[in-house]
Amino acid sequence: MITFSAPGKICLFGEHGIVYGTHSIACSIDRRSYVSIERSTFSNSYIEYKGDRCEINNNLYIFFTLNEMKKIINLDNFLIKINSNIPMCSGLGSSSAVVIALIGCINKYYDCNLNLNEIANIGYKVEKSVQGLASPMDTYISTFGGVVMFPEKKKINPFDWDLIICNSMDYSYTKSVLNKVNILKSKNSKIIKSIFNTIDLIAIEAEKSIIKNDIYKFSQLMNINQGLLDSIGVNSKTLSSLVYDLRNYGAFGSKITGAGCGGCIFSVAPKQKIKEIVGYMNKKKYETFICNISNQGLRDELEK
Ligand code: MEV
Repeated sequence: MITFSAPGKICLFGEHGIVYGTHSIACSIDRRSYVSIERSTFSNSYIEYKGDRCEINNNLYIFFTLNEMKKIINLDNFLIKINSNIPMCSGLGSSSAVVIALIGCINKYYDCNLNLNEIANIGYKVEKSVQGLASPMDTYISTFGGVVMFPEKKKINPFDWDLIICNSMDYSYTKSVLNKVNILKSKNSKIIKSIFNTIDLIAIEAEKSIIKNDIYKFSQLMNINQGLLDSIGVNSKTLSSLVYDLRNYGAFGSKITGAGCGGCIFSVAPKQKIKEIVGYMNKKKYETFICNISNQGLRDELEK
């Protein structure tokens, strides 16, 4: 059996704009998806997730990953086992992590010798096939790890403050949110372009705030970015109330991560308040946890 894992991500700044070429910053987190493959004696490949078995076409990300890999090698049938501590459909890059870990497994099984850039590029193609629209952000972060500025793919030294993640428990379906934004953009081209240009400026300023380790500036920029995400229609009543709850409990900044219309928000807060804030939110039954930046991308679990 071969097992690879890949990390989830937080989009710190610039989601949606990045799909149209503006800047974004994302970081990998210390939560991962684990994928194992073993040759199957069945006439098809199957997925096993949390003990349940299903067919490959139940998960389009896996379906298209196998399709892409079939362009490189003749694939056997596999049992693909998935384990993950990244909440699904929540803006934390769980699908990208599974895609990249699966490519890692197949790459090793067949000695394909794909390098990390090639793996990330295949991952990006898979996301485009599934979603219609995508940026390289999520799959690149799952492959390489760290804090990265896009579209340049420039590594930034990580900051040392903790991030609080709070899950609205509403699923976020990237494909439909991307489509919604695309329609809004096509009907209000100049306005949405200028919003994306402002989001671009925010990401550029945010890079400076990370380099200076300036949590206050970073948080201000998060809050401005959140307002602009609302303006392009990817906020929701629940996400908005979570953002304000966290700020009211003492977080400096709170914003959506990823596509939005559900999924998670993240916050930064004074060190001494973090545990208290997490406690409040968990009492309200919203899965809330502290997470750290991880520098590790794709990992062979047997060579750890
Ligand atoms: C999804 O995590 C972030 C989006 O910008 C889509 C993408 O970059 O592929 C909404």
